[in-house]
Amino acid sequence: MRLRRNAADVGTDHGYLPAFLAINGLAEKIYASDVAEGPLENAKKTFEKLNVSDKINLIKSDGLENIPDDADEIFILGMGGFLISEILFDSKFIRNSSVHLILQPMTRSEDVRKFLWDNLFEIDRECCVEDGGRVYAVISAYYTGKKEYHSSFSYYVGEKMDFSGLIPSPEIKYAVKQTKIAKARIEGMKLEKDGNCREIEENIKKFENMYPAVKENLK
Ligand SMILES: C[S@@+](CC[C@H](N)C(=O)[O-])C[C@H]1O[C@@H](n2cnc3c(N)ncnc32)[C@H](O)[C@@H]1O
Repeated sequence: MRLRRNAADVGTDHGYLPAFLAINGLAEKIYASDVAEGPLENAKKTFEKLNVSDKINLIKSDGLENIPDDADEIFILGMGGFLISEILFDSKFIRNSSVHLILQPMTRSEDVRKFLWDNLFEIDRECCVEDGGRVYAVISAYYTGKKEYHSSFSYYVGEKMDFSGLIPSPEIKYAVKQTKIAKARIEGMKLEKDGNCREIEENIKKFENMYPAVKENLK
């Protein structure tokens, strides 16, 4: 994240991230939001317990609806990829190159990449985190207003992760998981006689040849 910006944690639940930002003085302003009362109550308790209530603005908001438009470091973490895409779709102020998005989909990260690229955002960095034996992508993105070509297999694994490790790193585990998902979708596409499956198939082959550790772990 960029330091000393105006951070917003959308879907904060227990408010752990905003509390961490406040305790460590990492942001200028901090907004913590959630759509539901229970999580807002959880976050309030966390902030009181950690003595940071005066440093965080707690907001009830469906997605980015009520987030002030001076927020420029926006976290949307721990939700499904489709919901994250819907939240981004509904907001205008994030379509600005000064706004930084940090997104961590629990599922369907391919939907998030497709949304970002189709809507003229650039993904500048990606990495993976591992929690409880599961791996998740963390996607950093900015609006550029420019359209660029990306292969349909890039939706699944992105273009910025490092898959070059030999030991099953979180990135390699993620690549294996996503390649399996892409292969399963290809089978569905074949049944529907969708000709686009050939392009994805060819790109998967290239990807496996480029990263032997991924190929090895797919067996
Ligand atoms: C699984 S929790 C994730 C909490 C935290 N962000 C994390 O990563 O640990 C998802 C949270 O998103 C909230 N949420 C779901 N839909 C939302 C929406 N449209 N706008 C804001 N928050 C939403 C839920 O109420 C819940 O508190």
